[in-house]
Order: sequence, then structure tokens, then C-alpha cells
Amino acid sequence: MPKTHTKYVCQQCGGQYPQGYGRCPGCGEWNSLVETLDRPPAMRTGFPRIASAASPVPLAQVESVSYRRLRLPLEEFNRVLGGGVVPGSVVLLGGDPGIGKSTLLLQVSNLAAQHCGPVLYATGEESAEQVKLRAERLSAIAPDLYILADTDVDAIAQHAASLRPALLVIDSIQTMQTDDLDSPSGSVGQLREATSRLTRLAKNDGIATFVVGHVTKEGNLAGPKVLEHMVDTVLYLEGDRYHAYRLLRSVKNRFGSTNEVGVFDMQDSGLAEVSNPSAVFLSEREDRAAGSVVAVTLEGSRPLLVEMQALVTPTHFGLPRRTANGIDMNRLILLTAVLSKRAGLPLGTQDVYVNVVGGMRLNEPAADLAACLAIASSQADTPVSDVAVIGEVGLGGEVRSVNHIRQRVVEARKLGFERCIVPERNLRELRGETAGSMTGVGSVAEALEAVGCARH
Ligand code: TYD
Ligand code: MG
Repeated sequence: MPKTHTKYVCQQCGGQYPQGYGRCPGCGEWNSLVETLDRPPAMRTGFPRIASAASPVPLAQVESVSYRRLRLPLEEFNRVLGGGVVPGSVVLLGGDPGIGKSTLLLQVSNLAAQHCGPVLYATGEESAEQVKLRAERLSAIAPDLYILADTDVDAIAQHAASLRPALLVIDSIQTMQTDDLDSPSGSVGQLREATSRLTRLAKNDGIATFVVGHVTKEGNLAGPKVLEHMVDTVLYLEGDRYHAYRLLRSVKNRFGSTNEVGVFDMQDSGLAEVSNPSAVFLSEREDRAAGSVVAVTLEGSRPLLVEMQALVTPTHFGLPRRTANGIDMNRLILLTAVLSKRAGLPLGTQDVYVNVVGGMRLNEPAADLAACLAIASSQADTPVSDVAVIGEVGLGGEVRSVNHIRQRVVEARKLGFERCIVPERNLRELRGETAGSMTGVGSVAEALEAVGCARH
């Protein structure tokens, strides 16, 4: 039977060849040839054409639409998507193997089947019986939830077109393939082609589609990175395998703001929402322990209280060690340098370890001051209790203002922290009843003074 024509295209120089090589004969790059369908130019793009004969219109005259969203009774999930699932959108869910992607999507499928209409869960990773086992454990057996164990993306698309589900789940894109390409499933050519076909189906039939993608250790090629630009929304499920908490984070969203997080707890019966994550992250904190400080960080629009721990011990071999878990390593090196130079802490002969409890990763600089105080607290062996700490630290040792200070302070109070250490420059935003118990600091040295960890 004559096959659809394919060619191998070098991703580096654009050279095209009728067969694959390990190394591009044109530019000499290794492993850069990707099998691609030989199609007329109009069909080549992975995106569906929005309109055929469109002409320019003034933007002011374009009608605004508000997206109808499917709201599931899973608020943490809705929040991350920007308020709910948009029909016709394609969402890529990435994450390490075993983190809980299939579990989350099976739970979501079950809820959608109960509230929004039929759901087709296509899996190339497990048999229908294995999915059933998991579904029983999750008690996720809605009558409108259909399972299809197949890896042929065209067959899945056909079933979806006739079932017309409200939601289609593809688990995972790495196992999907089309017979039109010779490359094995999981190769870049197959990934791209399968995603482009699913995207076309989603847009044409208005089916909200969730696609699971594994992240490889290197995070390249076969990982979902190459797919990120083809889909509307990219979510990552993160967490550390040894902790029960899972963070669902949006890194790209055409239908909502990014950087929202949803917090879940992996239990025996699946993922449970954590609606008050601050309380959870602080639940095991020992208030009288030196080296432990409460930071108030902002994830998307939500303030979160987390415990920052530091341990400072004398260096035994040559160079002092710096180890960061949950904050950026370079940030830690910078903060220890600031503490040595601007606050006189003798850290040049000390190893410094910093850890954010609960497997959280803090990316924003507003947690700087908390890290500094944790280090100073461990160094001085003096606990910093009953206080939440907010502030960015500059190279001059100054404490810089942070955004959304009121929200952060309100969250801290909710969790029982009456007193907060905040940047002095933020103080005037905190008028009224909150201002009284705030300690405004202008520099790291002042902050150390305020908690009794300064070096005299
Ligand atoms: P899974 O969803 O299969 O991960 P992924 O699809 O991302 O590879 O999750 C697998 C892990 O989750 C597995 O180690 C067991 C754990 N788990 C629970 O703790 N409770 C549950 O109810 C389920 C279904 C899984
Ligand atoms: Mg899975």
C-alpha cells in the first residue's frame, strides 16, 4: 500500500532528506533530523486556520467574547486554569513520571463526566483494566466516563468525533502515534504530528483536550517542551515524590493568568484539595527552634506562608559549603555574601544549608529576608518566633519593598502571626489596624537587630 510521503527535516539548518541520518549531511549537527509529513504548504502548520479569507479590521470593532467555562467542583483546579476549563482549548499537563498526572486527570474526568457531559479518557500507558483498578480506588466511575486503550491518534480522533465528549484526555502524548509517519512513538516527529491533529480536533469540535506529557531528566526533545507552543495552556504538576504535596502550576495560559498554583495532597484515595496550604506547610514547625523563620511568599494571586530553615555549621574542609533546597543556589550565595559584608556575620568559615519545608520552591525575592534571618538565627542559636518575615534584600544590604504587601500581611494574621517584619518602604501602604504590629526595617542589619540575632 503506498504510504503518505514523509521527509526528514534538519531542525538546525532546515535541510530536507528522503531518509533519516544520525547526523545531518548538511550542517553536521547530530540527531537533528525529524520525520515530517510531506504536505502542501497550507496544511503544514500545526495550527488550524482561524478564518480563510480574513481581512484586516480595526481592533476596536472586534466583538469581545467571554469564554464559557466548564467549572468543576475542584476549585484548586479551576483556579489554575483561570476559572474553569475552556471548551476547545488544549491543555498540556507535564510532570515527572509517577507524580500523579494520571491520577489527577482521572479524577477530573470523573467530575467532568458527572457535571459537564461525556468524557473520553484515551490511554496508551495502561490497559482499560488497570485504569478501572485505579478508578475504583479513586471512586471515579461515573457512567459517562469512557475509557479507550489505544495508541493510534487517528483512531482516537475518530472515536472522539463520533462520541463528541465534553472532555478528551490523552495519557500520554509520548505513547501516541500516527501510521503516516515511520518514526517510533515518542519521537519529535510523532509528538508534533499527534499534537497537531488533536489540536485541530479540539478547535473544530469544541472539545476541551488534556494531554499528558512526561518530562525527561534532561527536559529536552521527547519532553513536552517542543509542544508548549502548540497548545493553549501548559500546566506542570510538581512536588517531591517523598512528600504528599503536589503543586499544580500554570506556566502558559491563553485564557487566564499564569503563575497560579493549586495545592493538592496525595492520599490513598487520590489527590485531595488543600484549601489552606499555609496551615499545612507550617503544621510541623517548631516555634522555639533556632534557624527556622516563617516567610510569606506569593504564588500567583495567593499568599502562602512557608517555613524557611537554615543550618550554619563550622567548615571542616577548605571551602565553605552552600546548599540550597527550595531557593535558588545563586540567591543563597548572594545572601550569605550580603550577610557577611553588611551585617558582619562571619560566614566565610561556616557551611550554610537552607531548606524550604514541604517541597516548595520559592522563586520570588520577597523570601530573601526570611532566608537571611533564618541563617542569622541559626548562627546566633537564637529562635525567631511568633513573627512572619517579608522583604527583598539588595546587594547594599538594603531591604527593598515587595508587591501585594497587604495581602501577605492579612494571610500572616489569619495564621496567627500578629507581628510581621516588613520593608520600611511598604509601611505606608499598611495604614490602619494592621500597621501597629508591623516592624518596618530598612536594612538587613536592622532586621537582625529586630529579632535579636545581630552580632555585637
Ligand atoms: P500516577 O497518576 O500514576 O503518576 P503519573 O501519571 O504522573 O506517572 O501516580 C502514581 C503515584 O501516585 C503512585 O506512586 C501511587 C500514588 N497514588 C496514591 O498515593 N494514591 C492514589 O489514590 C493513587 C491513584 C496513586
Ligand atoms: Mg500516568
